[in-house]
Amino acid sequence: MLVVIKKDYEEISREAAHIVAGAVRSNSKIVLGLATGSTPLGLYRELIALHSAGDLDFSQATSFNLDEYLGLPASHPQSFHFFMQNNFFSQVNFPPGNVHIPDGTISRDYDAYCARYEQCIKAAGGIDLQILGIGRNGHVGFNEPTSSLASRTRLKALSRETVEDNRHFFANESEMPKCAITMGIGTILDSRRVLLLASGRSKAAAVAKAIEGPITSSVSASALQMHADVTFIID
Ligand code: PGA
Repeated sequence: MLVVIKKDYEEISREAAHIVAGAVRSNSKIVLGLATGSTPLGLYRELIALHSAGDLDFSQATSFNLDEYLGLPASHPQSFHFFMQNNFFSQVNFPPGNVHIPDGTISRDYDAYCARYEQCIKAAGGIDLQILGIGRNGHVGFNEPTSSLASRTRLKALSRETVEDNRHFFANESEMPKCAITMGIGTILDSRRVLLLASGRSKAAAVAKAIEGPITSSVSASALQMHADVTFIID
């Protein structure tokens, strides 16, 4: 596990962009695992800047997003589809057919849907580079505490902490989804390389437990200690 300590959020974002851009340049057919949330926004801004300057081409790349709120259509401003479109895909040249984000509108046959998402990742050759943030409770994706370390893509109920952290994004608290579709910890561990970004005091305890604590399902990110190629970029 490589831990890179940076001065602040801007430096984290630049370092992450440097790594992602290098990976895309060395493998134009790269399969990226992408994350939403406030943490990767700076990374996406940097990647967009490189693309706009003609220095980065995503025309052959493929992506799989980690998760999506259950019940939100792609048009909902708080959906992760909307987030990705707004903050990244609309400003780079990813072929729309190569972009995969779990569908929050499914209402039945969840297991079959999630199995197909896994199958799709496999058919694409697996994820080469997975970007992660981390929740205050140590979650990665929406793998809330007590998620099985071998879990695959599935439906997951959101923890109270996660609902608290995100409900201010919704006009009305009752609108905040209580479940999500998320890649599992096992899915994430199958990625060839993992890059976890975390900034700020509120994440410090979760980051410390993930890096130095015991491997435990009560801190999902601690499972990354079992991965052979993981880099934490933190401040
Ligand atoms: P954040 O969320 O980047 O908005 O802090 C990270 C996460 O919950 O995984």
